[in-house]
Amino acid sequence: MAQATKNVIVTGAARGMGAAVVRKLAKRGANVVAVDREPKGLKALKDELAGQPGAVETVTADAGSASDVKAYVEHAAKRFGGVDGIFNIAAILGEFRPIAESSNEGFDEVIRVNTKSAWLGMKYAIPHMIARGGGAIVNTGSYLAWHGCELLGPYNASKHALVGLTKTAALEYAKHNIRAFILCPGSMDTQMNIDTAAGFNPKNTEEGLRQLAASTATGRVADPNDVATVGCFLLLDAPLQMTGTLIPIDGGRSAM
Ligand SMILES: NC(=O)c1ccc[n+]([C@@H]2O[C@H](COP(=O)([O-])OP(=O)(O)OC[C@H]3O[C@@H](n4cnc5c(N)ncnc54)[C@H](O)[C@@H]3O)[C@@H](O)[C@H]2O)c1
Repeated sequence: MAQATKNVIVTGAARGMGAAVVRKLAKRGANVVAVDREPKGLKALKDELAGQPGAVETVTADAGSASDVKAYVEHAAKRFGGVDGIFNIAAILGEFRPIAESSNEGFDEVIRVNTKSAWLGMKYAIPHMIARGGGAIVNTGSYLAWHGCELLGPYNASKHALVGLTKTAALEYAKHNIRAFILCPGSMDTQMNIDTAAGFNPKNTEEGLRQLAASTATGRVADPNDVATVGCFLLLDAPLQMTGTLIPIDGGRSAM
């Protein structure tokens, strides 16, 4: 029997891992509401994916704003007739500073964009998933969702908090057939990885990139497509018995 068409929301979709996820979902026939605060990348993605089996709707919005999140979840439900999943990817790195030298505003903004965004996405999408008889949540953590890291305190805290939120969602909504996962990439070949290398090694980004690759067992950073493949499996295919799980894709970094 053919699988019913899934309707999903993806944040942070304009580039990097988010764009890779949208490409895979549309090619598989899922309908996607692709959200980002950057309209240019969204438009390019929509044009690129015209004619794929799944429809791609783009929404320029701030994933950390309650009114924006409520509006795009409602839009997805109206446009496609329901919501089956949400993949929360939007994130920022924030300042590279030791705690005592970090700004209060910087802390608040990182928590708002990285943690509150996923909280809002779950809060507004879950009732729609319950109405559909089930669904899936994939939140994007990091190697830093379960390891400490100098200079990235707020980012680190924002990703650790997502682990707790995701596990709680899994416990609260398993009875509604809703699965919840936290996908934890190590370094991935995206703009954020370049920004990370520059943040840790401002005088020599190339050397920073080499150090990030060398900190894995595989000796290289991940292709965002590989991470997207696992994320799409979690969103569309994982069995009901799999939920509340943290899934690292970090080239063996967390095995060291
Ligand atoms: N790249 C890495 O090395 C790495 C490592 C570990 C975890 N991650 C995580 O993987 C995910 C994807 O990262 P990436 O490397 O593709 O990042 P990226 O910086 O390349 O892309 C992030 C996207 O999120 C969007 N975004 C940021 N703030 C937003 C907001 N308030 N509202 C809507 N959109 C917003 C950006 O415009 C951008 O398109 C993130 O959650 C990141 O924390 C990345």
